[in-house]
Amino acid sequence: MMLPEKKQVLVADDEANLRRVLSAILTRDGYDVHAVEDGKAALEFLREHHLDLVITDLRMPHLDGMALLREVQAMDLQLPVIMLTAHGTVDNAVEALKLGAIDYLTKPFDQTEIRNVVRKALRTRDLSQADAPIEPAALTQSSPSARYGIIGRSPKIVEVYSILDRVADSPTTVLITGESGTGKELVARALHENSSRKDKPFIKVNCAAIPKDLMESELFGHEKGAFTSAVSSKPGRFELADRGTLFLDEVGELTLEMQSKLLRVLQESEFERVGGIKTIRVNVRLVAATNRDLRREIAQGAFREDLFYRLNVVPIPLPALRERSLDIPLLIDFFLSKFNQRLKKQVTGVSPEALQRLHSYGWPGNIRELENVLERAVLFADSPIIQEENLTQEVRNFRDGKSLAPPAIDVGPVDVGADGLKEKVKAAASRIERELIVRALDQTSGNVTHAARLLKISRKGLQLKMKELGLREREDG
Ligand SMILES: Nc1ncnc2c1ncn2[C@@H]1O[C@H](COP(=O)(O)OP(=O)(O)OP(=O)(O)O)[C@@H](O)[C@H]1O
Ligand SMILES: [Mg+2]
Repeated sequence: MMLPEKKQVLVADDEANLRRVLSAILTRDGYDVHAVEDGKAALEFLREHHLDLVITDLRMPHLDGMALLREVQAMDLQLPVIMLTAHGTVDNAVEALKLGAIDYLTKPFDQTEIRNVVRKALRTRDLSQADAPIEPAALTQSSPSARYGIIGRSPKIVEVYSILDRVADSPTTVLITGESGTGKELVARALHENSSRKDKPFIKVNCAAIPKDLMESELFGHEKGAFTSAVSSKPGRFELADRGTLFLDEVGELTLEMQSKLLRVLQESEFERVGGIKTIRVNVRLVAATNRDLRREIAQGAFREDLFYRLNVVPIPLPALRERSLDIPLLIDFFLSKFNQRLKKQVTGVSPEALQRLHSYGWPGNIRELENVLERAVLFADSPIIQEENLTQEVRNFRDGKSLAPPAIDVGPVDVGADGLKEKVKAAASRIERELIVRALDQTSGNVTHAARLLKISRKGLQLKMKELGLREREDG
């Protein structure tokens, strides 16, 4: 397969730190990144060079992001622009989208978010260009896989395709459920991309990431003076998503109070901004996702049953990877070509022993975990075939349906030291705790939210533990 040349990305931001972080993330994803510190330099650069994508800050000296966007539009380069806006300045985001920005990111954003937005922007561009670069085989045929960018042909995934075919272009509310890493966000985006709303915004709200006291204003907006920090009025995500799709990720994390407010909007299709009196009506297609068992949450009084039925009009349950091992070879192919491209390698396959390991592993982190394991394997492979030793410990040591090798606790002779039994047990417990946390972070590429979920503790709790144990949060994953 011919390897397409690297995509050219221009980053314009006056903050050196942000330029550095963005460059690091995107370079690692296989893009060629050029960074400049203001809009004027960006404009000069893009006049001289071929580019595939521009990511620009809104506020910059000389020429700001909005002016840069206008220039790009005027030059008619079909060049997608992603706007970076400060947290809370959503009206700028709306303005940017109206002006033709393909997407925007509110600071601070996380790595997954930036990666997804970039990937989506570039994919949109590829689809609209005749000379689209070669895509992995699975995506080139006009199969459901190609239509939705979702790999798989096992019965449970075929069922997902058929639901997508039926509901993508309807206004119906969809609830996507599945374990962590099963592709919930991918499906949410596929719904949007395959609907007549695809040229309108796809707005994602991660209900787990937004502080509880800001949630209402995040969703519904606020009027100036509604609370102390409300220095100006702002539209919420519902307004931003007007005529497009609103994706409520981790909807199970909403407080009961927010659940009631959301329910009212779903029933009446209208709401008011926080501190506002004007009733606002929007036309929004709602897609929600959760990895919680909402029926159990209902039984425990943590989730409103009436809201559940409103959201669950069309349920899309995503299978865990271990329930669709038929798809493992397809996914391996798909990820190998992706990482070959990204890492400039020429890995052609997997040895029978390695394949055996990949098949028998339990994949608690599902496709995301498989993706990470393969990225690492491609990176470490020094022959065209991935060998067992290129796989992670986790995968190699997996036996008999147990995800973690049973911790071999060697207590040694009865020697509890000067501090006695209690202290010895405490020390051992904290070693095991540390090990489990390290493994969870490893499995989730350092994503604290996901690791916390695997460990079934709160994100805050995990952060405290990490601090206690001297584990640093990874900045660049
Ligand atoms: N069927 C698939 N084909 C190709 N890639 C997939 C598929 N399913 C998931 N992925 C990839 O796996 C990763 C995880 O998917 P995604 O973020 O959609 O999962 P999620 O269910 O939202 O996870 P979480 O609950 O942890 O947020 C992404 O990189 C996604 O592109
Ligand atoms: Mg997700």
